[in-house]
Amino acid sequence: MKTREIAKGIYSVGVADWNVRNFHGYLTQKGTSYNAYLIMDEKITLIDTVKAHFSQELIDRISQIVSLDKIDYVVSNHVEMDHSGALPEVMKHLPNATVLTSQAGEREYKLHFNPDWKFQVVKTGDSISLGKRTLSFVMTPMVHWPDNMVTYCPEEKILFSNDAFGQHLASSNVFDDEPLDVIMEEAKKYYANIIMPYSSQVVGVLEAVQSLDIQMIAPSHGLIWKNNIPAILEHYTKWAHCRTDKKVVIAFDSMYGSTEKIAYAIRNAFEAKGYEYKFCDLKSNHISDIITDCLEAEYICVGSPTLNKNPMPTVAAFLTYLQGLSTKTKKGILFGSYGWAAQNIKAMERYFEESGIELVDKYGVNFIPDKQALQAITESVSGKI
Ligand code: FEO
Repeated sequence: MKTREIAKGIYSVGVADWNVRNFHGYLTQKGTSYNAYLIMDEKITLIDTVKAHFSQELIDRISQIVSLDKIDYVVSNHVEMDHSGALPEVMKHLPNATVLTSQAGEREYKLHFNPDWKFQVVKTGDSISLGKRTLSFVMTPMVHWPDNMVTYCPEEKILFSNDAFGQHLASSNVFDDEPLDVIMEEAKKYYANIIMPYSSQVVGVLEAVQSLDIQMIAPSHGLIWKNNIPAILEHYTKWAHCRTDKKVVIAFDSMYGSTEKIAYAIRNAFEAKGYEYKFCDLKSNHISDIITDCLEAEYICVGSPTLNKNPMPTVAAFLTYLQGLSTKTKKGILFGSYGWAAQNIKAMERYFEESGIELVDKYGVNFIPDKQALQAITESVSGKI
């Protein structure tokens, strides 16, 4: 694979991971990439690296441009090992390099690799001269680890944003030349599954970014934003402020179809009121895909029958994931059929409470709901949304 020059003297040297399908529990149907960038200047600088098992590919790609021992700086925007796993191997070839990272980054590196590298800690407002170019740093803690920062090159108007604005998308393209709806859907999925819990911090990042003159946003995953910068900033603004659309996600599992019947009764109410809806049986839909739809949804409705005093494991897994992602400003409905104990609803309520989802109502039905019961549920939901 050849390197790509993204601006004069600045190269994309990262790797595409075409066949990864599970990224710590997140389904990556389109693969991903681990982007790294090489800046050729009086001080030669590498920005971020790749996963450990792609170390040699990264080294080979850098070597197409320059001998590794000529590199002066490694800027590490983020310690997570999808961006730093190759660093121990790369640093063996960089006897003269200084690693520039945040204070938390230096601490985390010691806990990861116990390295003997030369570090220079940077903070917001710091900058270094590479010769013709400058790099300045903005700390972006919790987007998505405490160590995160972004790096801006004012002469080239490029923001190296690391996880922010990324997409899990492998491509032979480097820039956002693919259909925008495809790229944006992956950016949305990435935001929902990785960034959503830190939306309040993203607001701060957006404020910092909006004060910069940017012609390229070069993230650490997926395509570089060049043609659609206003669109991605607009979407991030919407997601960071937890703005919702007239949408509902109905996620459920069902043993013998009773809970599914209730799900349809609830769906009928939303449909009649003009809501866009997603109807997701948890046996057939992955939680990371459902969460993507939850990002912009006003309502999340979750259903399960009672199984051994609990919701079904598929539903419990979804609720655990939802709770961890701190979905904000959502309203919800719980529902499900039960046999001799309505423990399903009680258990699911606890998840909603901890998630901060406003419970609009709950519908438990003993064994099989008849036509009248289903009609009553539709009417009740209709009256509350
Ligand atoms: Fe792509 Fe938080 O690492």
